[in-house]
Amino acid sequence: MTIRITTIKEMQNLSQTWKTNNKQIGFVPTMGALHDGHLQMIKQSIADNDYTVVSIFVNPLQFGPNEDFDAYPRTMEDDQAQLDALGADYAFYPSVEEMYPKPLELSINVHRMAKVLEGAKRPGHFDGVVTVVNKLFNIIRPDIAYFGKKDAQQLAIVEKMVEEFNQPITIKGMDTIRESDGLAKSSRNIYLTENERQEAVHLYQSLLKAKELYDAGERNSDIIIDEIHTHLTKHTSGTIEEIAVYSYPELVKQTQITGRIFISLAMKFSKARLIDNIIVEEK
Ligand code: PAJ
Repeated sequence: MTIRITTIKEMQNLSQTWKTNNKQIGFVPTMGALHDGHLQMIKQSIADNDYTVVSIFVNPLQFGPNEDFDAYPRTMEDDQAQLDALGADYAFYPSVEEMYPKPLELSINVHRMAKVLEGAKRPGHFDGVVTVVNKLFNIIRPDIAYFGKKDAQQLAIVEKMVEEFNQPITIKGMDTIRESDGLAKSSRNIYLTENERQEAVHLYQSLLKAKELYDAGERNSDIIIDEIHTHLTKHTSGTIEEIAVYSYPELVKQTQITGRIFISLAMKFSKARLIDNIIVEEK
């Protein structure tokens, strides 16, 4: 049984005891509505550490005024059953009041790395992510924390936060887990209509086509972006928000590709906004 903890005090007391006993703590931060993408990280954490804590907290700070904070799926009983089945030790499940009893007097601002890609489309989003992750790190005090490459910009920013704030935490980036047809698993996929769900396979299909070009030696970003654009326009009814090629993990736009990069895209369907990416580098 996964033990549910709802107060910061209780969570801090537990991690204090683990620290005193030299136990290694693994941490998987999530907003719940758990799927295989989350579960692989939890499994990895259970394998790597003495104790695994999974946080489930839909963080209001990282949602913009016109985003889906209220509608975001909250499925705690289902999530609890999945955690029980995996054998995760603890679920940290605080209320919004517990995490933010009063409006914050301080904030963390992410500069350049949050001014591109998702951060440009969602102002304040990464400030909210970094603030909550920082609080969660202070509450749980993990040795290793797990983040998905599906949100590659988030992973790069969290790695930078740990580096710049000298937090003694190892960040492990985990591969994107996909449905059998290639669609990246996401808590937001449930917002897709049946037809859009069929079309959504083309997000990954278009990235694979881009990778084929890259593997064949193409290093001009515009040509790669055009290929994705053409594929998505032909096969989906969604609106393309961005297709981009950036260095990874530096997050600098690349016109002529060198080194490790990621090709990313964001698409808006009627009710769902989906992102996907692939990271590629010279062999
Ligand atoms: P959430 O969207 O619930 O995602 C939690 C973690 O699961 C993130 O690290 C995300 O990158 C990872 N993840 C999501 N889908 C994945 C997939 N298909 N394959 C692999 N990993 C996947 O990201 C957040 O929550 C929040 O911003 C959070 C970090 C919890 C801060 O509030």
